[in-house]
Amino acid sequence: MTVAVLLLLGLGLLEAEGRCFFNRTTEHCACYNLTQESVHSIVQCLAASVVEFRGGELERYIAFPISDLDPSTIEMLGSLIIRKIIFGDFLVPEILLARVLRFFSYTQVEELVFESCIFKGRGNWDEMADQHLPIVSLRFHNVTSAPLAGREQDFSSLSSWLETLQELAVTGSHVTSLPCGIGRVFRALRSLDVAQNSLGDESLMPAFCKGAFPQLQVLSLRRNNLTSYHSVCESVQLLRELQQLDLSQNKLLADASSSCQWPVSLRIFNLSDAGLDEVLTPLPPSLEVLDVSRNHLRAVDISLSSLKKLFLSQNLLRAAPSLRNYPLLDTLHLDNNSITELPWDELELLGHLRDVAAAGNPYNCSCSGAGGLQALAGTGYLGQGWPQGYTCHSPPRYQGRLVKDVPVSVLQCNSAAVIAPVCIALALLGVAGAVCLLRSRPGLTRPCRRL
Ligand SMILES: *[C@@H]1O[C@H](CO)[C@@H](O)[C@H](O)[C@H]1NC(C)=O
Ligand SMILES: *[C@@H]1O[C@H](CO)[C@@H](O)[C@H](O)[C@H]1NC(C)=O
Ligand SMILES: *[C@@H]1O[C@H](CO)[C@@H](O)[C@H](O)[C@H]1NC(C)=O
Ligand SMILES: *[C@@H]1O[C@H](CO)[C@@H](O)[C@H](O)[C@H]1NC(C)=O
Ligand SMILES: *[C@@H]1O[C@H](CO)[C@@H](O)[C@H](O)[C@H]1NC(C)=O
Ligand SMILES: *[C@@H]1O[C@H](CO)[C@@H](O)[C@H](O)[C@H]1NC(C)=O
Repeated sequence: MTVAVLLLLGLGLLEAEGRCFFNRTTEHCACYNLTQESVHSIVQCLAASVVEFRGGELERYIAFPISDLDPSTIEMLGSLIIRKIIFGDFLVPEILLARVLRFFSYTQVEELVFESCIFKGRGNWDEMADQHLPIVSLRFHNVTSAPLAGREQDFSSLSSWLETLQELAVTGSHVTSLPCGIGRVFRALRSLDVAQNSLGDESLMPAFCKGAFPQLQVLSLRRNNLTSYHSVCESVQLLRELQQLDLSQNKLLADASSSCQWPVSLRIFNLSDAGLDEVLTPLPPSLEVLDVSRNHLRAVDISLSSLKKLFLSQNLLRAAPSLRNYPLLDTLHLDNNSITELPWDELELLGHLRDVAAAGNPYNCSCSGAGGLQALAGTGYLGQGWPQGYTCHSPPRYQGRLVKDVPVSVLQCNSAAVIAPVCIALALLGVAGAVCLLRSRPGLTRPCRRL
């Protein structure tokens, strides 16, 4: 078992009191501040699929003799079911990491996560040359390390592994640039998440230079320091496989009309909370999901023939967009706008729409307004906000009441609809009466009763 401990890379042998807790339901084992005395409690983690280590400092293990493993140890490592290892709140000497990383080649660990860690110094990664690791997903969140620039040699030593990596996340870590050469190493990477960093417009062009991230499908640039829609478009133009792009929580400006074309593969585009006063153009032509919620949009007059989901919550819209511009739309979210009426009181007007959310709008509860919403609610397509989130702002007598509670019976609402039939009935009666009178006059053959 001491070997298992070593697997977990000897990294657990720490000073303060601590132990491991295994949750059988989630197969998650969490170890806090392990000590030499409590390290045996790591044994219970051997049945876990996720193991988490929190707290400690590894600097004094730099000199720890880490030799090659004997065959029985290798076999034991191969039999572990651990798929994911998380290191949190650690000071990690890079030199130690460089020495132990290769042991992962004997395991089935697919996902490695470092949270709130400080990587110290520079390691020597030469030993990793030609090493293949089973790890396909690598995540760093809130970490600090020596700058990435100028470390092309390290990345090239790690390339046998990195060029098979599928997911990489480096979030909340003050990243200001991604050198071109780094992207070229990640030949199989499908998802790159660099949210919550300090990437600026000018740092994107080199990051996605020719040959960088050739298989990338999912890119998150959420909450960075981007301002130019146009230059983001220019920068990602070479990502031919890109399907999802998240630019939310940047402060994008509408630059002079741009002729840049987004990759045609782009299907999901997130421009939520991007400071937009208008929907920027051009948009990727084959979009299926567009999130422009939490902006300052007053109108949306775009047309996207393949769009399926449109998120417009938290804007300043005064009217719902015309569904004719989105023939395939199945989801439309309009919460917290200034919309007074939804115009879809008949099923055929809805087209493919099956999920509508429109709470928090100042509804006009005139008969047609309230009736339309009630009819829409009747279809079951209104989201969870119904009925509590739907209140009337006008007319005054209904202000503050739930739309659901407004009476919209034919009698109360559509006087024309009630009066017209009554008039017609009366008129017919009149005619019938007149005919009767005529027929009952002497000389006519049949009595009126037979009519
Ligand atoms: C295991 O995790 C589940 C889900 O997080 C939680 O509901 C449960 O209380 C945990 N069990 C123990 C023994 O901590
Ligand atoms: C980020 O990591 C540092 C240690 O490097 C830690 O002190 C800080 O609390 C972490 N911040 C968050 C938000 O987790
Ligand atoms: C964001 O970009 C602006 C100009 O592009 C720059 O002045 C500012 O320092 C940047 N902020 C950060 C946190 O990098
Ligand atoms: C867009 O990004 C925001 C975070 O900025 C997130 O809450 C939202 O769910 C994303 N939208 C979609 C459609 O994924
Ligand atoms: C709408 O606004 C309310 C109140 O500010 C908020 O609680 C709710 O989360 C918002 N809904 C959406 C979908 O943004
Ligand atoms: C509410 O709708 C009715 C009927 O369509 C209209 O006459 C009235 O002006 C509207 N009121 C407001 C405040 O928009």
